[in-house]
Amino acid sequence: MSFPKINPTTTKAWQKLDAHFEAIHDAHIQELFTSEKGRRKAMTIVWEDLILDYSKNRVTPETLQLLLQLAEECKLKDAIEAQFSGEKINENEDRAVLHTALRDFSNMKPEVKAALDKMRDFSEKIISGNWKGHTGKAITDVVNIGIGGSDLGPAMVTEALTFYKNHLNVHYVSNVDGDHVMETLKKLDPETTLFIIVSKTFTTQETLTNAKTIRKWFIENASEEAVSNHFVAVSTNLAAVESFGISEQNVFPMWDWVGGRFSLWGAVGLSTCCAVGYDHFEELLKGAQAMDSHFKDTAFDANMPVIMAMLSIWYNNFFQTETEAVLPYSQYLSKLDTYLQQAVMESNGKSIDRNGDPVDYQTGTIVWGSTGTNAQHAFMQLLHQGTKLIPTDFICYTASLYGNKDHQEKLLANCYAQADALAQGTYGKQVENNYKRFEGNSPSNMLKIEKLTPNSLGKLIALYEHKLFVQGVIWNIYSYDQPGVELGKKMAIDLLSKK
Ligand code: F6P
Repeated sequence: MSFPKINPTTTKAWQKLDAHFEAIHDAHIQELFTSEKGRRKAMTIVWEDLILDYSKNRVTPETLQLLLQLAEECKLKDAIEAQFSGEKINENEDRAVLHTALRDFSNMKPEVKAALDKMRDFSEKIISGNWKGHTGKAITDVVNIGIGGSDLGPAMVTEALTFYKNHLNVHYVSNVDGDHVMETLKKLDPETTLFIIVSKTFTTQETLTNAKTIRKWFIENASEEAVSNHFVAVSTNLAAVESFGISEQNVFPMWDWVGGRFSLWGAVGLSTCCAVGYDHFEELLKGAQAMDSHFKDTAFDANMPVIMAMLSIWYNNFFQTETEAVLPYSQYLSKLDTYLQQAVMESNGKSIDRNGDPVDYQTGTIVWGSTGTNAQHAFMQLLHQGTKLIPTDFICYTASLYGNKDHQEKLLANCYAQADALAQGTYGKQVENNYKRFEGNSPSNMLKIEKLTPNSLGKLIALYEHKLFVQGVIWNIYSYDQPGVELGKKMAIDLLSKK
């Protein structure tokens, strides 16, 4: 089987969607609820501890049927099969795309299992205090030095799992901003700090500059011999790691079949693993594994990532929307949007199709957002009464972790009210004052999760990973390379060499 290379605009479904769009694009969500009995139930997917209610979208059953026909005609099923079976679907780099293998406990690759075992041993030693710093003291602080996928995933997950955290303080240094490095070092004691240098290539300018500065600071405050107690690395580039002065037993592996922005599930997640302990880390992987099975084995009409992806395509390619908001009603998920920006925009910000031709339709969506209710007091005015159509994902948890009912009820009431207000507006009401009129008809998905656990977080992240994969398949682009970031890197090096 080979990865499909179908221009979506040449399909029958696309032509039908064009005509269908003309017929229904003005229909108001409120009218759809009135005319379609049982709409909410029909447009809700309940799976394990997740509920996706997508009834507040500008779609009819016919729209959905056509979108799924588009998925069929673009051979999505074959594409999923190709990805999971390890075909080299990242053709430009001649690589397989197997981040799902990092969490496949039913058929785990021996090297993945060995890496997880090493992470378990190491994190247990750090947490228990059995791993000693150079003066015999236990580790109190862990610093992750990495950027992009070597930073955003672990930083987001560690923040999201704060409730499950142990006593270790975990810090993230990514930007090649010397002031930020110094502010971080100011808080640290070289006797009790562990540095994890994370770089798939071990050539990234920012990471290597930060790592060298930090190593110098460390040697000035400790000694060269002490480096081995305080520095470990996660990389595919063993030679470069060794020449940095980190011995092989302190290196955790990465593989070329896992893209940087999909790597939090393996050793790139070592800082998270130290922060929450291995068992919680494994639960995160198991949640993602469950979502992988859901994605792989569920019919498209009940498949959360497929439905979310196809709805997003409907807005992006027919309504011509530019952006999507993701609004988690949980402060724990404050870093989700930044993480998603890399995952989605580095993957699908492409304009050459899989046949090597320029596309003549829109691809990658722009993702942005912030946590509710903060967002309501910041940018929601524009979503309610501005001129732009912005499809929105609301994410909320039924239960709070500390069980504070009063706060949780208010948080949830606000979340539901925003989704209702966006959909309904003042539709059907007499509003004399134009300034108080709300069009409504702004689409949203409501993703309701029982509780924020490592397992449900794994499901949530994998849901978005699969959503962006589906979109890349339909848009006929390669989602797993990122050649667009290279030119700027080279130009920065050229500028520096002219100094
Ligand atoms: O420049 C983009 C990028 O290549 C990302 O894809 C990647 O996550 C990041 O840089 C960091 O790369 P590395 O892990 O090799 O340092």
